[in-house]
Formats: sequence, structure tokens, C-alpha cells
Amino acid sequence: MAFTELAKKRFSSRKFTNKLVEKETITKILETVRLAPSSKNLQPWHFVVITEKQQIRKIASCYKHDWLKQAPVIIIACGDHNVAWRRSDGKDYCDIDVAIAVDHLTLAATNLGLATCWVCKFNAMQCADILMLPDGIEPIALIPLGYPAEEADTNRHETLRKNFNKIVHWERF
Ligand SMILES: Cc1cc2nc3c(=O)[nH]c(=O)nc-3n(C[C@H](O)[C@H](O)[C@H](O)COP(=O)(O)O)c2cc1C
Repeated sequence: MAFTELAKKRFSSRKFTNKLVEKETITKILETVRLAPSSKNLQPWHFVVITEKQQIRKIASCYKHDWLKQAPVIIIACGDHNVAWRRSDGKDYCDIDVAIAVDHLTLAATNLGLATCWVCKFNAMQCADILMLPDGIEPIALIPLGYPAEEADTNRHETLRKNFNKIVHWERF
């Protein structure tokens, strides 16, 4: 798939079919995540893959909307603050590195006919407890993964994105 087409096809899916996502497919997607760049190549990330129904329900309880429970897979993208690069002024690049990796994940999934949704409005402390995350490892995003029950409207960007000239500035702001 050409890159622009892929970028248009990725959308936030909040409804999935019951079709099982093969472990092989999940692995293929996560292999792409490994390729993501990171500050100083420190790769401060971990991905916890949840496929068991009971564990999906537990993770979904960290989020207030019911639709998440229906996802056949949830991948929790975690940042490792113990290894992430910090700039000399203290800025921690963990979130940025994890976000790039998650973007690889969402696009790789789309490329294989699956869909995802970033979910960040969740109870991170509760999630860390359920996953028994070690100190310094923070759950940054929940990414449900599955076959979409609805297709993306690839023209939605015409109305749902800011106008090009409003966000792109040449030479000066
Ligand atoms: C960092 C981040 C956090 C998000 N958190 C949530 C969330 O908690 N719940 C949700 O339903 N969607 C969430 N979204 C999805 C956005 O609402 C969605 O990407 C945006 O509306 C654009 O729609 P699209 O992804 O279909 O193009 C999040 C997206 C990003 C990038």
C-alpha cells in the first residue's frame, strides 16, 4: 500500500469483529515496532500483549467506555523511564519514543487489514498494578487491535483536519 493511502486508511476503530487475530499477525506488527527510531537508540519501551478474555476485561476496566472490552487484543505500550534519554535540561523523551513506536504499530496493523485506536484517557496506576509493572515503567497508551467492524472514511481528513495553511509555516511563523 502506498504510504499516503496507508496514512489515510488508519483510523481510530472503536468497534471490532469477533475474528481472532493470529499470534503470528500480532508478532509481525510488533516486529515493525522494533524498527522505530528512538532518542540515542535507547528504545525505552515495552509492549504487553493481552489476548485472554479475563485479562482484557481487567485492562478495559481502567477505561470508562465499554467498547474497549470488545477488542480481541489490547497492547499496552509502556515507557521505561529508567532507560529513556534525558536532555541536559531534564526533559524526558520517553513519551516521544513510545509515541513513534505506537505510530509504527498503528500503521503496520492498518497495512495488514486490522485497526487500532490510541487510548490514553485511562487509569494508569490501576493498569500498572494489573500488569505488575516494575518501578519506572509507565503504561502510556492502551492500543486495542482487531479486525474493524467499520471501514475508515478516507475522505474524513478533508473536514476533520486543520487546513494545511493553518499549520504549515514557511521560513517564519
Ligand atoms: C495520544 C492520543 C490519545 C488518544 N486517546 C484516546 C482515548 O482515550 N479514547 C479514544 O476514544 N480515542 C483516543 N484517541 C483517538 C483520537 O480521538 C483520534 O486519533 C482523533 O480523533 C483522530 O481520529 P482518527 O484517529 O480516526 O484519524 C487518542 C489519540 C491520540 C493520538
